[in-house]
Amino acid sequence: MKTFEKKLRQSASQHLDGKPAVTQGHVGWESPSNIAIVKYWGKYPGQVPANASLSMTLRESVTRTMIDFDFSEKRKKPGVDFEFHGAAHQGFARRIEKYLTGLSGFMPWISHTKFTIRSENTFPHSSGIASSASAMSALAACLCEIDEQMFGKDPAIEFEQKASFFARLGSGSAARSIYGRMAEWGITASCGDSSDEYAIPLPELHPDFFGLKDSILIITTGEKEVSSSLGHDLMRSNPYAKLRFEAAEENMQRLCNVMRNGDLGQFIDIMENEALSLHAMMMTSSPGYLLMKPGTLEAISRIRKFRAQTGLAIGFTLDAGANVHIIYPGQQEAAITNFIASDLEELCEEKTIIHDGMGMGPRKL
Ligand code: PMV
Repeated sequence: MKTFEKKLRQSASQHLDGKPAVTQGHVGWESPSNIAIVKYWGKYPGQVPANASLSMTLRESVTRTMIDFDFSEKRKKPGVDFEFHGAAHQGFARRIEKYLTGLSGFMPWISHTKFTIRSENTFPHSSGIASSASAMSALAACLCEIDEQMFGKDPAIEFEQKASFFARLGSGSAARSIYGRMAEWGITASCGDSSDEYAIPLPELHPDFFGLKDSILIITTGEKEVSSSLGHDLMRSNPYAKLRFEAAEENMQRLCNVMRNGDLGQFIDIMENEALSLHAMMMTSSPGYLLMKPGTLEAISRIRKFRAQTGLAIGFTLDAGANVHIIYPGQQEAAITNFIASDLEELCEEKTIIHDGMGMGPRKL
């Protein structure tokens, strides 16, 4: 068993004979999505990443989750009522129930609790913004808070680490949303404190990276043809997987240096290499698939041309989808948003662009 998991289980076993300080209550957390610069793609059982990843936490694209909880010894499994934007959602409720059941070994009270959950996102569905990252990190933060209200704080366990651990079990990339600015998840030689079990805030970040922007071109809002979980699975038989995991580690090491010394040019170089490598893995999986659309390629080509012409620090990254994330420093916002409006808007579905940027992490409501 991994070290932190053991610590959490030991802490939970001390609760087993104790009575909770409260049996009912209300908690609420807002948590952001994130965009990976070095990508997590491929995993081992138990949500263990095949390579370390690094992401920028977003500011505007958040999930807000409120939970009313009601604990009773008589109940033997968790109960979940779930509303998304005010409408009951059975499908999500069953998924959350399954997730909660999986966490009851770490928080045994979960099995005796009824959860009434209300959640909403500030960003549209299928927008290329990872809603699983914001949703699972918001839920994990709520659970950690309920745990503390019921059994007090365990001084040996940090709230953020625990929330990141639980978020990871819901969706790998959600582990990183627990921290502001930039977060790293997965063991890497570039970060001494790195862990596969939870994310950590990037230890050193040059101030030139503070306030980075992410303008997201919505090339299409259609559902992805291949889900991320299937994509991760297909990496098991991808003939280039081993090389990819090694290349990701190299990129992590280069990127961590760059994030320390503030070299925006190299940052863009690594970021774009990662985006194209992620999609290369999709194309070389078996069966191979393409999530980029003609508009994605056209946007990439126009961004690169604009960069060559102006010398501005502007780069792109892609998530597992067709939409294009344009990353640039806040100081260049005026010039770049003008370029986006004049040259890229026409490539977007209903001219939709979401302007976001670096955020400071989850917030208690
Ligand atoms: O967290 P998951 O299982 O949805 O996987 C996320 C994978 C990518 O978004 C493509 C990359 C990443 O590191 O966020």
